[in-house]
Amino acid sequence: MIIAIDGTTSSGKGTLARRLAELYRLPHLDTGLLYRGLAALALREGCDLTAAESCADLAPRLDLKEFAERELRGARIGAAASVVASHGPVRRALFALQRDFARRPGGAVLDGRDIGTVIAPEAEAKFWVDADVTVRAGRRFRELRALGEPVTEEGVLAQLRERDARDAGRKDAPMKPADDAFSVDTTHMDPDQVMGAALSRLAALGLSAQFP
Ligand code: C5P
Repeated sequence: MIIAIDGTTSSGKGTLARRLAELYRLPHLDTGLLYRGLAALALREGCDLTAAESCADLAPRLDLKEFAERELRGARIGAAASVVASHGPVRRALFALQRDFARRPGGAVLDGRDIGTVIAPEAEAKFWVDADVTVRAGRRFRELRALGEPVTEEGVLAQLRERDARDAGRKDAPMKPADDAFSVDTTHMDPDQVMGAALSRLAALGLSAQFP
């Protein structure tokens, strides 16, 4: 079974993906990390982030183990990732890896922006996770502070708005819910409530977790 989880930054989609993968005992791919890794590689190599082909050419050399997760999760790389991810050649260069992961025997959980629409449109369960932008900015602000980054809440809000607009407005694989995605608005929900909503949906689809 493939579970596709798409949504905006700091909506809670990553936490939901991890928890569902654990419960269903499926491998999980956080596809945002691929774009973050490629952006980190491009910055390290001094590559122009707006040069689509040069960034795409780096994809075969991407090895996420070369970067500390703390660095990849930071604000600078997040903003750079959204620029790199707007290039069609970059998305095509990272397509096969994501597609192969989704098609693993037994299935997988993937989270990102275009999983239900482009990477795995055949997914048995699709979720779209979103929340009010000011609530997401507050969550992201606390995450970045915990990483030791000197951010302000207003700055994080402005960055999120910019990133949302770029992700939703790009020509190739724009961030959007699949037509058959189940939407979860996490504005007033904690992670347990989000998980509960997802499990209800999975049960309604006849996809409850089965254990021998
Ligand atoms: O989800 P995360 O914030 O780690 O993603 C970083 C950036 O990578 C996003 O802002 C988006 O531009 C890009 N991304 C994407 N498609 C995906 C996952 C992430 O375009 N499937």
